[in-house]
Amino acid sequence: MKLWTGRFKREIDKKTNDFNSSISFDSRMYREDIEGSVAHATMLGKQGIIAESESEKIVLELNKILADIDNGDCIIDPECEDIHTFIEGELTRRIGDTGKRLHTARSRNDQVALDIRLYLEKHSAKVKTMLLELVDVLIEKAQQYSCAVMPGYTHLQRAQPIVFGHHFLAYCQMFLRDISRINDAVNRMDVSPLGSGALAGTTYNIDRQFVADFLGMQSVTENSLDGVSDRDFCIELACAMSLVMVHLSRFCEEVIMWCSSEFKFVELDDAFSTGSSIMPQKKNPDIAELVRGKSGRVFGDMITLLTVMKGIPLAYNKDMQEDKEAIFDAIDTVLMCLTAFIPMIKTMTVKTENMRKAAAGGFINATDCADYLVKKGMPFRDAYKATGEIVARCIELDLTLEELPIEEYRSVCEVFDEGVYEAISLETCVSGRNVYGGPAEQSIKTQVEKIRETVKCIK
Ligand code: ARG
Repeated sequence: MKLWTGRFKREIDKKTNDFNSSISFDSRMYREDIEGSVAHATMLGKQGIIAESESEKIVLELNKILADIDNGDCIIDPECEDIHTFIEGELTRRIGDTGKRLHTARSRNDQVALDIRLYLEKHSAKVKTMLLELVDVLIEKAQQYSCAVMPGYTHLQRAQPIVFGHHFLAYCQMFLRDISRINDAVNRMDVSPLGSGALAGTTYNIDRQFVADFLGMQSVTENSLDGVSDRDFCIELACAMSLVMVHLSRFCEEVIMWCSSEFKFVELDDAFSTGSSIMPQKKNPDIAELVRGKSGRVFGDMITLLTVMKGIPLAYNKDMQEDKEAIFDAIDTVLMCLTAFIPMIKTMTVKTENMRKAAAGGFINATDCADYLVKKGMPFRDAYKATGEIVARCIELDLTLEELPIEEYRSVCEVFDEGVYEAISLETCVSGRNVYGGPAEQSIKTQVEKIRETVKCIK
């Protein structure tokens, strides 16, 4: 069906029609398009803009179309310009002139703005559910490994001892922020633009709030020009999706490193690894690499949206049709990545003994050695210098701080006594970091409890 009959004498060029058309990617919004139309038609009937009987007929048939599309009895015509055109055309094909009344007091401009909002709200909820699932997995792992000592790194150099559970909980915080960001975006999204018309509202006595209430949306947009030309909600969601990908990507990078023979901190389950076509010994973390790689797509989607929107005048411009593929791809990609990533993490084997071994090297208890002197009254800078000399001595003798004899300690600084060995044991180093947010066992417990509370509030 062509919508703009009357003004035109000739059919649109076939290839141009394909170029202009969005049905190949917006047909996935058929449900939301019908939901919006049902709300609109109900309002038109209630307001007496069309007869109640006609409104009812429209609603009834729209619901049938929805059921027919769902069960495959109604096939969406790929030749149509977009999903809005298709649904209206199908309605009119089925119920004749009454169907032609549906578009009274509405434009595709406010219609599409509504459809995208409804669609994205639903799919954001799916991302949130998966992120919560991931947080659950991470909490479980954090508890399981709340005493598994590993080196914490800065500059990828061994820095100070932590436990593996603490590392998991750091990611938990990122994903919780992601959820909260999605909530914020959805909050601003949950506003109905219907009634903005093409750009200048409408002369009909419509009831915009009724439509919003009918659809379970919080409120209506405040300005008709903004109502049809705003895509901030797509951009905000794309930013939120990009940050999810940043977090997944960093996590994947660590998993990839941890799988290497150089680290050997974890081993991925066979079900989430791949082999090499030529090297029989290989077990590759392809899934983690692919997730890391796919972050690029999602950032690209965000840049697409920003670029599409940055230079267009008010109100609707066809450029805006480009919004859908980008934001749909961002959501699809995140969902796909989470689907592979969650079970990969869940099934990964953790090699705590290797982590412990790695933590024993690299003088990661040097800060604690300095702190030991500080606690005996020495100013931190002096303690730092003395410990630096001791580390240098250890390197000369090829010994760890734990192995260096007490005479060596005392030759650098008289303050040292046998108590130093207890102070620099990795277990003491970790359990001593009982500060709020730190890696000590008690602190891990507190973190987990707090996360559980936060999750309860989100749910
Ligand atoms: N397919 C269009 C889109 O996705 C629908 C809006 C069309 N409006 C218009 N004035 N051409 O943006």
